[in-house]
Amino acid sequence: MTQLRAITEQSQVIVTCGTGGVGKTSVAAALGVVAAQQGRRVVVVTIDPARRLLDAIGLEDNTGNEIQQVPLDSVGELWVTMLDVRETFDSLVRNTSPTVERANEVMQNSFYRSLSKSLSGTRDYMAAERLYNLHNDPRFDLVIVDTPPSRNALDFLESPERLARFLKHPIVRFLVAPSRGGFRIANAAMQPVLKAISGIVGGDALTGAAAFLRAFDGMETEFSRRALAVAATLRSDATHFVIVTAPATDALTEADHFVSELSRLRISLRHVVANRMPPTFGVLTAAEEKEQARVTTSDLSTAHSIIAGLCEDAENAKTGIGAFLERTQVLFPQLNITYANEMPADIHDMESIAILASQLAVHPS
Ligand SMILES: Nc1ncnc2c1ncn2[C@@H]1O[C@H](COP(=O)(O)OP(=O)(O)O)[C@@H](O)[C@H]1O
Ligand SMILES: [Mg+2]
Repeated sequence: MTQLRAITEQSQVIVTCGTGGVGKTSVAAALGVVAAQQGRRVVVVTIDPARRLLDAIGLEDNTGNEIQQVPLDSVGELWVTMLDVRETFDSLVRNTSPTVERANEVMQNSFYRSLSKSLSGTRDYMAAERLYNLHNDPRFDLVIVDTPPSRNALDFLESPERLARFLKHPIVRFLVAPSRGGFRIANAAMQPVLKAISGIVGGDALTGAAAFLRAFDGMETEFSRRALAVAATLRSDATHFVIVTAPATDALTEADHFVSELSRLRISLRHVVANRMPPTFGVLTAAEEKEQARVTTSDLSTAHSIIAGLCEDAENAKTGIGAFLERTQVLFPQLNITYANEMPADIHDMESIAILASQLAVHPS
């Protein structure tokens, strides 16, 4: 069995990362197909706000956090969903709140409302929370996370710990603490700190934040517990990270960036998918085809020149990926690779995703 097939068969979480345009979303969906064929019940969640996955799979009507099953002729099941930040945050508040009234108080708070729609950190944290939910959902035994095409796509990995730290911060503890005789913000010792914060976020937002954190009191224990549970899952043997890249120089530079991010986060990388590889032709090398073009006098000479060019593309692609693999294996010696060819047409439907899946399933690592 190839390493990639072992990963789709055994992991509980797979995270694909890589720069935009390399085929990350397509590969995430194709890995879902491979796993479903192995009999697993898979959900692919795309954190990328672009709707490409759903459009390609023919589920354009999907909204919010809705989870839809993809019709597939396989033993297992394939489901897909997107991330709706607000919906995830609301359900987190509802699930952790001691009473319905308290949940409503938090959800109606102005600070909460701005927090749940504007901060990019919130998006990261909700991606982690969504992963927690799907990972613990008895309907699925594998969650595949398709990350957005940004350089900081892996920030969500750190957000659970960041949140847990934030909730333990003395200022937060202070604001949450029940106050006797009115608002604690009147405390003289806190004045310079609060002044500094309100200078940044504005006085109104600060009052909203304080009210939010008080309404939130008691819920933070469960928030932290879930956040730390996701952080542990992401670092466990049940999770695998797959870097998707293409042979283009800029894609490989970005892949290097993700490799160093994973290394910094002390997360091990086991697999790379080299997608969009130029297909190879015949048995001759580019140099041999060029030689044929030189010695042939008929029309065939032009054909040999064209083939020589295509062979050269394929050879350069192999060299570029080979060099990337070599430098990455210095950090991650167990790293394996699977190649997938550039197909003649875009990947825009289930049929083409299935073709990509069959390439990923059989190509030797
Ligand atoms: N192996 C492939 N062959 C042909 N086209 C591909 C292949 N992989 C991806 N594509 C195309 O590249 C574009 C980007 O793919 P996508 O999966 O959305 O990448 P990403 O999520 O990395 O931005 C899409 O138009 C897709 O159809
Ligand atoms: Mg994508």
